[in-house]
Amino acid sequence: MSRLRVGVVGAGTWGKNHVRTLAGMPEVELAAVCDLSPDTRTRLAGQYPGVHMTESAADLLGRVDAVVIASTASTHAALGRQAVDAGIPALIEKPFALTVADAEGLAEAAERAGVPLLVGHLLEYHPVVERLGTMIQKGELGDLYYLYSQRVNLGQVRPDENALWSFGPHDVSVALFLMGDAPVSVAAQGHSYLQRGIEDVVFLTMKFASGVVAHAQMSWLDPHKERRLTVVGSRQMAVFDDMASREKLRIYDKGIDRPDYVSYGESLSVREGDIYIPRVSNAEPLAVQLKHFVSVIRKETEPRADAADGVRVVRVLEAAGQSLARDGAPVTLRGS
Ligand SMILES: NC(=O)c1ccc[n+]([C@@H]2O[C@H](COP(=O)([O-])OP(=O)(O)OC[C@H]3O[C@@H](n4cnc5c(N)ncnc54)[C@H](O)[C@@H]3O)[C@@H](O)[C@H]2O)c1
Repeated sequence: MSRLRVGVVGAGTWGKNHVRTLAGMPEVELAAVCDLSPDTRTRLAGQYPGVHMTESAADLLGRVDAVVIASTASTHAALGRQAVDAGIPALIEKPFALTVADAEGLAEAAERAGVPLLVGHLLEYHPVVERLGTMIQKGELGDLYYLYSQRVNLGQVRPDENALWSFGPHDVSVALFLMGDAPVSVAAQGHSYLQRGIEDVVFLTMKFASGVVAHAQMSWLDPHKERRLTVVGSRQMAVFDDMASREKLRIYDKGIDRPDYVSYGESLSVREGDIYIPRVSNAEPLAVQLKHFVSVIRKETEPRADAADGVRVVRVLEAAGQSLARDGAPVTLRGS
C-alpha cells in the first residue's frame, strides 16, 4: 500500500511533536509543513530535508492526502474549513474551535462533504483512560460517585486563551468519554492574575444527568506540575497520575460500606482494602492518535474522537466561559 502523504499546519511547541511522530511512521510520508514563522521553517528544513516547507496552507493542501492542524487555537476553525473545502481529511488539535457556531459549522461541512474530520483529544487515546473507561463500563468501580482532575503547572502563559480553553479540552473530553454522556449543567469560577481578562486559574464543575459530578482544576500559575485524575465509585476508587513515569493507574479497593439493614446502633463502615496496579500499555498517546487517523482515512476503522466529539466539548467550554463571566453561576446545557 502506498504511503499516505500527510502535512502539518502549525509546527510550534506542540505541532513539532506531530511532525516528529509522523516522520517516524512507516505508513506515512511527511510531505509538507506549513508555519507562519520563517525561523521555524528554516529549523525544520534542516531537520527534515526533502519535506516541503511553506507559509501557505493552500500550498500545503495541494500537496497532501491528509493534514494535522496544530496552529494557534484561534485559527483552527478557518484552517479546518479550508481543509474540508479542499476535500482533505483533517485532524484538528484541541480546542476544535472557539465557538459552538464555528464547531457546528465545521462538523456539518465535513459531514456534507464526506471528509473525515477528527479532533486532537489526546487523552481519549491514552491507554490508562481507555482502561478506566472499560472498568467503568463493566461496573468494576461500582456506582460512580464523582471524579476530579488537576491539570496545573507553572507556565506556558498564553496571551490568546485562558486556562479553561488551554487545559479544559483535556479534562472535559476525558469526563465525557468516561461518562459516555455530556453534562446537563456546568459552573466555572476563575481568576486573572497575570493578564487582564485572561483567567490563569479556573475551577470547573460539570453535573451529569446520572448525578455524577466532575470537577477540574486548571492553572498555569501553580508551584506543582500535576496531571492527575481521581475517580470515586461505590466499590473502588481509581487514580490516574500522568506525571508518574510508570504505574500510572492505581486502583484502591476502598470505600464506605453501608449495611443492608441499618439500625440505630449500626454505623457506616470504612473498608480499607488492597491497592493494585493494573498492567497497562505504555504506548505513546500521540502515536496511537496519529495511527488511528491514518486507519480512519483508509476506512479500516470508525473515528473515535470525531467532529461530533469536538462539538460536544466546545459546547461545554463555551457554557463554562459564560459561567466564568457570571462568577460561577450554573449554565444549563441543551442538545448535548
Ligand atoms: N493535544 C495536546 O496535548 C496539546 C498540547 C499542547 C498544545 N496543544 C494545542 O496545539 C495548538 C498549538 O499549541 P502550541 O503550544 O504548539 O502553540 P505555539 O504558539 O507554540 O505554536 C503555534 C504555531 O502555529 C503557527 N501558526 C499560527 N497561525 C498559523 C497559520 N495561520 N498558518 C500556519 N501556521 C500558523 C505559529 O507560527 C506557531 O509556530 C493549540 O491549539 C494548543 O491548544 C495540544
